[in-house]
Parts: sequence; structure tokens; C-alpha cells
Amino acid sequence: MSLSIKDYFINIFKSLRVRIFIIVFITGIVSCLVVHSVIMDSYENRAVSVRTSEVQTQMNILANHLITYNYLADTSSEVINAELDMLANLYDGRVMIINDDLSIIKDTYEISTGKTIISEEVVACLKQGTSGAISKYDSQNGYIEMTTPIIQSSTEEEAEKEIVKGVMLVSVATDTINTTLSILNRRAVTIELIVVILIFIFAIVASYYMVKPFDRITAAINDVKAGYTDKPVTGPNYLETEHVINAFNQLLKQMKVLDDSRQEFVSNVSHELKTPITSMKVLADSLLAQEDVPSEVYRDFMSDIVDEIDREDKIINDLLALVKMDKKATDLNISVVDVEQMTEIILKRLRPIARKRNIEIILESKRKITAEIDEVKMSLAIMNLVENAIKYNKENGWIKVVLDADHQFFTIDIMDSGIGIPEDSIAHIYERFYRVDKSRSREIGGTGLGLSITRSAILMHRGSIKVDSVLGEGTTFTVKVPLIYVTNN
Ligand SMILES: Nc1ncnc2c1ncn2[C@@H]1O[C@H](COP(=O)(O)OP(=O)(O)O)[C@@H](O)[C@H]1O
Ligand SMILES: [Mg+2]
Repeated sequence: MSLSIKDYFINIFKSLRVRIFIIVFITGIVSCLVVHSVIMDSYENRAVSVRTSEVQTQMNILANHLITYNYLADTSSEVINAELDMLANLYDGRVMIINDDLSIIKDTYEISTGKTIISEEVVACLKQGTSGAISKYDSQNGYIEMTTPIIQSSTEEEAEKEIVKGVMLVSVATDTINTTLSILNRRAVTIELIVVILIFIFAIVASYYMVKPFDRITAAINDVKAGYTDKPVTGPNYLETEHVINAFNQLLKQMKVLDDSRQEFVSNVSHELKTPITSMKVLADSLLAQEDVPSEVYRDFMSDIVDEIDREDKIINDLLALVKMDKKATDLNISVVDVEQMTEIILKRLRPIARKRNIEIILESKRKITAEIDEVKMSLAIMNLVENAIKYNKENGWIKVVLDADHQFFTIDIMDSGIGIPEDSIAHIYERFYRVDKSRSREIGGTGLGLSITRSAILMHRGSIKVDSVLGEGTTFTVKVPLIYVTNN
């Protein structure tokens, strides 16, 4: 009884509700995180590039001033020194001026003045001029490093010749950007927390409402099950639920038909079984009512009672046969059977009855047939058909039984020169207890169960039966059965 924790979780995950909740919730959170990181990244990139281009502009202006004041030769210019300090202060950074000998002639930090700098970036800038200028963002340590060449355009004849006299190296702190980023980050996280709570609530509501229609269907079906109603189930009009409801209602209809036919069957059976008993009682009562009954009358009545007992017996036997056929196809007792031999045995048993009415039975076998069938059940089916052909035939009539086969099926045609079946009865002859002419058939004798037994037996073999009849001229039943029996499991 006790569920392990694992089972408990497995059970929870079986719930559609839980799954919908998880999907909605995870989707919400993941999109939140993606939006967060995209916004943060793009803000950082944009802020860095704005800062870089600002500083770069300042550097270009300053580089021009350096040339104008010939600063590379003489670093004493107060104007320039002030400008350099201002740039350094403004962006909380460090400015270094390097001449073409790679020696640092000015450092706003005053640490490295006079020293030689060996840096790839500076060398590249010296060599390549503007195209060698770089700007590098170091997000880890929070600064941007930039170089700008200090270029002297010669004013002589060879116009447009540019000489790189030195390099300005600037590094600026990006603290302010980082501060803004962290403020932004904090604000975003707050908003995201609220959004996550909203998504959580939304996921619960969504999962609840999306599955709710199915709860309503279950409730409706339970009502039917409990027997409060037998009306078709109705429910919410979603496409998916409609499919479930339609399927269920069809099933309900089928079951109702089945139930109705079962009820009808039971009432028919009771009626059919009662009829002979009623007759017997009437006969016996009238014997008892008279005193000193003449022995001829007595014998006469008793023979009528015996007839009724025979009839009762026949009905019970047919019912038992029918119940046997109602079982599943797996109950078939399949063996390889010589169909011609089987048919001959049946005809041999029925010929004496046919002879009484001077009916001729002809068997025509077009080829040798062996088939995988249940011999007892198939014999019963064919026997019922031939019996009918005799019973519903005319005096001096004929019956022709034709056996044939192709590579898949064998067929048995049972033709007779009998009274035929009216067109509007053809659809009903396989129904249990159905007889075309109740009053006439009664003197012929029969239960109305024969053809339904026959049909069941043939369907169990996955075969088919069909009938052709002309009223007053004769009837042909055609049975078609697979030569090889195939189970479906
Ligand atoms: N070969 C046939 N010719 C004419 N009518 C037939 C033939 N076979 C069956 N029928 C009709 O179909 C009815 C049902 O047949 P069946 O189920 O065998 O019941 P039963 O023979 O006991 O009456 C018969 O009562 C009869 O009216
Ligand atoms: Mg019959």
C-alpha cells in the first residue's frame, strides 16, 4: 500500500496538469533569463562603444594639438599638459604620450615618464598609423585601452605624406558603466522575480483550465456509468474533447443496441420456450378434465404432447448451439478437412428426409478442397442450409450443392427449387427466431435459429454468406471461407 517517494513522483508526472504546469513555467523562466542576458549584453556593448568613440574623438583633437605645439620635442607646454590632465580626469584614466623611439615622454600618472614601452599595440600604431590604432575593452578589469597615432602631415611638395611622430595611449576606467550595469541588473532581477511569480500563477491557472474539460467529461461519463442517465454525454465544445465525447457516445449507442438485442433475445427465448409448455398444459388439462377418456383420444393427445416435447428439445439444442457460436473465434477447433468428404457425410444424413418429399440432391465438386476449419461447426452450418433447402422446397423439387475453390477461398453454393424468400424478409433471415411465415413455418417445424447459428459459424471462420432468392422459384445460399485459417492474435 505504501507508495515509495519515487512512485509518488512518477504518479505526479503522469498528470497532464503537472506537465502543462511544468512546461509553461519552464518556458516562462527560460524566456525571462534569455531576455535578461540579451538586454544586459547589449547595454554593455552599447555603453562601451559610446565611451570609446567619445574618448577617441577627444584623442584625435588632442593629437592635432600635440603637433601644433610641437609637444613631442618639448613637453613643457602648460596648455597641452592641462588638456592631457583634463582628459585623464574626465574619464578617470591614464594618458601616455610615446615618441617614435618608443620612449614615454608624458604619463599623467607621472610613474613611467622617460621609460621605454615595448607594447605590441603601440608598435603597430607607430608603424601603420591610423589603421594600426586599436581600442580594447577589458571587461574583467573594467577598462578600455585605446591608441591613436600622432601624425604630422608634411606641407611640402610631396603633399599628403603623413609621418607618424608618436602614439597616444589612453586607458579609461569603465566603472560607471559597471555601476549602471549592476543597478540595471538589480532592477531587472526585481522585475523578473515579479514576472516569475506571475508566470507561476499563470502556469497553475493555465494547467487547471486546460485539463478541466476532461474532468467534466469524466464526470459526465461517470453519471452514465452510475446509471443516472442514459442520454448521450455532452461537454465543452473543444475539438479534442469533442472527439472523446463522440467516440464515447458511439460506444454508448453500440452498447445500447447490444443491450436491446439481448433483452429482445431473452424475451424471445422465454416466449419460444413457453409455447410448447403452454400447449402441453392445455393438452394435459383437457385429458384430466375428462373422465373415462377413450384410449384412442388418450393416445392422440399423448402423441401431441410428445411432439411438443420434441419441439422444446429442438429449441434448447439450437439455443445451446447458438451460445457456443457466440464464443470467441479462439475456441475454434481447427484441423485440415476434406470439404467434399464433409459435405457428402452431411448429405448422406439428410437424403432420407429429402426422399420423403421426393427431392433430389445433387453434389457437384469442381476440384479437390482441403481447408483449415472447425469440422463440427462448419458441418452444422452447411447442414442447416441444406436442411432449409429441403424444408422450404416443393414436392419433387431438387437441390444442387456446388463446391469450388480458388487459391484463397473455397465456396459452397446451395441452390434449391423451393418457395423462395420475399425481398423484404431477406434482410432479417439471419436474425434469431426470425421466420418468414410464422404460421406456415410452424407446420414445417423449426426454431428460426438455424441461419443465425450458420452465420455465426461462418463469421468465426472469417468467411461470408450471401443469399439470392426469387420468390416461388428458388433460393441460392453462397458460403465463402478462407482455405487457411489466420488468427488475429
Ligand atoms: N432455402 C430457403 N428457402 C426459402 N426460405 C428460407 C430458406 N432458408 C431459410 N428460409 C427462411 O428463413 C427463415 C429462417 O431460417 P432458419 O433460421 O433456418 O430458421 P428455421 O429453419 O428454423 O425456420 C425460415 O423460417 C424461412 O422462412
Ligand atoms: Mg433452419
